[in-house]
Amino acid sequence: MGNYAHDTVVPDLQSNLPKKEQVAHMFDEIAPRYDFLNRFLSAGIDIGWRKKALQFLKKDRPVKVLDVATGTADLAILSANMLAPQQIVGIDISEGMLEIGRKKVKELKLEGCIQLYKGDSEQLAYEDASFDATTVAFGVRNFQQLEKGLSEILRVLKPGGKLMVLEFSKPTAPIIKQFYSLYMNFITPQLGGIFSKSKNAYQYLNDSVQQFPEGKNFISIMEKVGYRHTFYKRLSFGICTIYLGEK
Ligand SMILES: C[S@@+](CC[C@H](N)C(=O)[O-])C[C@H]1O[C@@H](n2cnc3c(N)ncnc32)[C@H](O)[C@@H]1O
Repeated sequence: MGNYAHDTVVPDLQSNLPKKEQVAHMFDEIAPRYDFLNRFLSAGIDIGWRKKALQFLKKDRPVKVLDVATGTADLAILSANMLAPQQIVGIDISEGMLEIGRKKVKELKLEGCIQLYKGDSEQLAYEDASFDATTVAFGVRNFQQLEKGLSEILRVLKPGGKLMVLEFSKPTAPIIKQFYSLYMNFITPQLGGIFSKSKNAYQYLNDSVQQFPEGKNFISIMEKVGYRHTFYKRLSFGICTIYLGEK
């Protein structure tokens, strides 16, 4: 198994900034168009993926949930509706994404339940064993140090608490694989470039999905970090995968 503690693919090959700063800057830039492009590029399928992923936490009835890399708070908002916890804390390194998230939370009158803060997955500002469940949707791929982020999340989970990760993966069935490759290599960067004015960001999306240690490899990393009862489920021909692990 490779060591994923080191820098993985970065958004801007010309820049000497650490991956984390490049990622935060990139998401700050695309934040105003992020939700629209998410729905448009996935044809709305991402909503179904998010619902399926949260179903895995429903029977645990978590009271306090941490949503890491919360972005514009889509998963946090869905968690509030589906899991009805007392509190959801969402953290992200991009202030631009959080700003949009806070507006949505306010419009939906969910401020009593959801709080969004600037924060880094690799250095969580919370005490050990303070959350019943943790979630990360389309975030782990962007971590600068994957193992560090996963072990910080484990630290703040209560014993028996679960981590749910939702992340892109690559389909393996022949025709789907070719169509997906065409879509991710050519169509997504073009459309992303037109609508978000940042073709680079949508090129990075493809590169980071290609490099991500998905499926059994990601499960091995979770287990190495200390998660138990790990499990994964591929969705939509493997375009996306749900991972579960317990403290
Ligand atoms: C593709 S967005 C996903 C946002 C949201 N979870 C969703 O499902 O739409 C990835 C997010 O991860 C955040 N991120 C990347 N590295 C992070 C880190 N080390 N700690 C916290 N957030 C991070 C980015 O700023 C960005 O908002």
